[in-house]
Amino acid sequence: MKDALLCPTQLGDIPLANRIVMAPMTRDRAGPGDAPSDLMVEYYAQRASAGLIVTEGVQPSPAGKGYWRTPGIHSPAQIEGWREVARAVHAKGGRIVMQLMHCGRVVVPANRGFDADIIAPSELACPVPVPGPDGVPAPCASPRAIAASEIPALIADFVQAARNAIAAGLDGVELHCASGYLVNQFLNPASNQRTDEYGGPAENRIRFPLAVLAALAQAIGPGRVGLRISPGNPYNGMDSSDPAATFVPFLQGVAPLRLAWCHVVDMGLDELDTLAMVRASFGGPIIANNNLKPASAAALLDAGRAEAVSFGRAFIANPDLVQRIAADAPLAKPDYSLLYTGEARGYTDYPLLDAGDPQ
Ligand SMILES: Cc1cc2nc3c(=O)[nH]c(=O)nc-3n(C[C@H](O)[C@H](O)[C@H](O)COP(=O)(O)O)c2cc1C
Repeated sequence: MKDALLCPTQLGDIPLANRIVMAPMTRDRAGPGDAPSDLMVEYYAQRASAGLIVTEGVQPSPAGKGYWRTPGIHSPAQIEGWREVARAVHAKGGRIVMQLMHCGRVVVPANRGFDADIIAPSELACPVPVPGPDGVPAPCASPRAIAASEIPALIADFVQAARNAIAAGLDGVELHCASGYLVNQFLNPASNQRTDEYGGPAENRIRFPLAVLAALAQAIGPGRVGLRISPGNPYNGMDSSDPAATFVPFLQGVAPLRLAWCHVVDMGLDELDTLAMVRASFGGPIIANNNLKPASAAALLDAGRAEAVSFGRAFIANPDLVQRIAADAPLAKPDYSLLYTGEARGYTDYPLLDAGDPQ
């Protein structure tokens, strides 16, 4: 059964040696100026045997930063840092795409270390506290509702970020449309109460997300662009009722762009078969995610419900997850107290199965 996980595939223009994708995970290890650190180079290189790595969320602009020590892709130093990450992963035969994550209203200002706009579709603060410096929960600041006239410049920030990612040598980008961040804030009626052409009915709430995806596809080619969604996820104050009412028209709008993948965080909803909904509306390759084990992941591939599967937490403590799955070896458990410390401990020191030390 695990054979399905280990055979190669292609997502858009990107060939994958196997169908095991590393899910995006924020780990708060960026260096000065929010540039990727040497530690990050080592961490991603250790995990290069994944068929594809999706990086942690990366801010396309200063205004996109909401969390502590997260990396960006808008300055020369950041581009240089990512070049080292991409080079190290490619040197080990891996593939890596960058997740573009604009936090929108999910911002604890003290996490930034600089002053920048806090923007969102509407002037509605994220109702839940999020981790501030050193992971201590803190309230989010109130955002400013972005004017319609500013939207072209916001889209241009995403386009420039994608061009920068490609210039740094990454294989593509994934637009974060999930988990209550900016793109999701436009899609969701709880955070989008605009009365212009970007708010109100679903056909308006999908307008900005579709415009960003179309612009990314035009800039770097649709075969290097994917998106990530989490229909029905209430995280960061999203309204989780009736996700199909928004996601069916959204994905039908995405379909003609012929993007390389849709990465689906399947919330296991009672009322909706999320993967089937994505299959019917989007039509392109699916990366399935959430709480998968090797056996359940292989079953999804065997049933034709997804083309690839992603693992998040399993990759934290198992840099050689692919080899472990191939060998039916036990999986190590992560130390969750070390997720966001900024240190090597709990990040690059999880051992390989065979060797005593990570390489
Ligand atoms: C430490 C941590 C950080 C995460 N950061 C991100 C992120 O930056 N972007 C994102 O889309 N999802 C993020 N996620 C969600 C994961 O990509 C994934 O959807 C989740 O862990 C469920 O997959 P799993 O059951 O295989 O762990 C994060 C998850 C964890 C555990």
